[in-house]
Amino acid sequence: MSVKPNGRLALVTGGAGFIGGHLVEGLLRAGWSVRVIDDLSTGSERNLAPAMDRIEFTRGNICDADAMERVMGGVEVVFHQAAMASVPRSVAMPLLTNSINIDGTLLVLETARQSGVRRVVYAASSSAYGDTEVLPKVETLPATPLSPYALQKYTGEVYCRLYSELYGLETVSLRYFNIFGPRQDPNSDYAAVIPCFVTAALADRPPVIYGDGDQTRDFTYVENAVQANLLAADADRASGSVINIAAGKRTSLNDLWKNIRKIAGTDVEARHAAPRQGDVRDSLAGLTLASDLLGYEPGVDLDAGLGRTIASFRS
Ligand SMILES: NC(=O)c1ccc[n+]([C@@H]2O[C@H](COP(=O)([O-])OP(=O)(O)OC[C@H]3O[C@@H](n4cnc5c(N)ncnc54)[C@H](O)[C@@H]3O)[C@@H](O)[C@H]2O)c1
Repeated sequence: MSVKPNGRLALVTGGAGFIGGHLVEGLLRAGWSVRVIDDLSTGSERNLAPAMDRIEFTRGNICDADAMERVMGGVEVVFHQAAMASVPRSVAMPLLTNSINIDGTLLVLETARQSGVRRVVYAASSSAYGDTEVLPKVETLPATPLSPYALQKYTGEVYCRLYSELYGLETVSLRYFNIFGPRQDPNSDYAAVIPCFVTAALADRPPVIYGDGDQTRDFTYVENAVQANLLAADADRASGSVINIAAGKRTSLNDLWKNIRKIAGTDVEARHAAPRQGDVRDSLAGLTLASDLLGYEPGVDLDAGLGRTIASFRS
C-alpha cells in the first residue's frame, strides 16, 4: 500500500523479519514514516501486522536492482536488516547466502549512495568475533569468522566502512549479540535458542542443547536493539563505526534453560546433542563504544526480556 510520507522517511530492509518488525514499530513510535522491502523468505507479514496500515510495504528482493531503486526514493535512513540470518543455513548453502548477505548488502549501499540517502544502519553480527578467547569482545579485536554467515556479515561491515570513506555515505554497523523477544520464529530448522526453549517449556517438552550447555551467550532483548538503531540513525560521531549491541552479561545455555523453566513453571530436563558446526564457545560484549558513540544502555535485562517473551508466546 502507499502511505504519504510524513516527516523523515526510513527504509527497513527485512522489515517483515523478527527484528525488522519490532524496529518498524519503534520507528513509527518515534515519528518516522516507514517503508519496508522484504521477500518474505524467512519473514512474515504477521510480524508487521500491528503496523501494516501505517507503512508502505513492498514484497521484493534486496538483490533486485530495479526494486531497490524504486524503494530508495526520498529515503533519509536505511535500516538494513534483510539477510539469510542463520549459521547452519550458511554452512549448508554458502553460495546462496553469500549472494544475499554480501551482494545484496552491496546493492543496498550502492543504491543508497546513488539515491542520496544520508545514512545506512547495518545489522551486523557478533559472529564476526568467532572463537577469540578474549572476553569481553571489543570492536578492536580482529575478526575471525567461523562460518560463511559470519564471514558474510563481517564483509557487509567492511563494505559499510568503505562506503563511508570512499563515497561519504554515512554508515553505522551494529553488531547484534543474540537478539531475542516476542514473535521470534521457533519453527524454522534454523531457529534461535530462546524461542525453541520457550516453546519447549510451555509444552512441557525437553529442549535440545547442542554440546554440554556450558557455552555462553550475551542474550539481548529485541527492544534494546531497536533503541540502538534509533540512536544510530542520528549519532553525530558514529559514521564509519562498528559498534557492539548487547546486554553486557553472559549466560550459559544450561542456566538459560533453568531460568526459562522457572518462569514457565516446568521441571523438564533438557536433552543434549552433538555440538553444531561453526558455533562459538563464549560470547560477551564490551559496551563502552556503544555508550560513548550512541549513548546506548541496555534498558531491558535478560529476566525482564524472558518474562515478556514467555508472556507473548503464551498468548
Ligand atoms: N537475531 C539475532 O540474534 C541476530 C544477531 C546478529 C545479527 N542479526 C542480523 O539481524 C538481521 C535480522 O535478523 P532476524 O533475526 O530478524 O532474522 P529474520 O530472518 O527474522 O529476518 C530477516 C528478514 O530478511 C528477509 N529477507 C531475507 N532475504 C531477503 C532478500 N533477499 N530480500 C528481501 N528480504 C529478505 C526475510 O524474509 C526476513 O523477513 C539480519 O541481518 C541478521 O543477520 C540477527
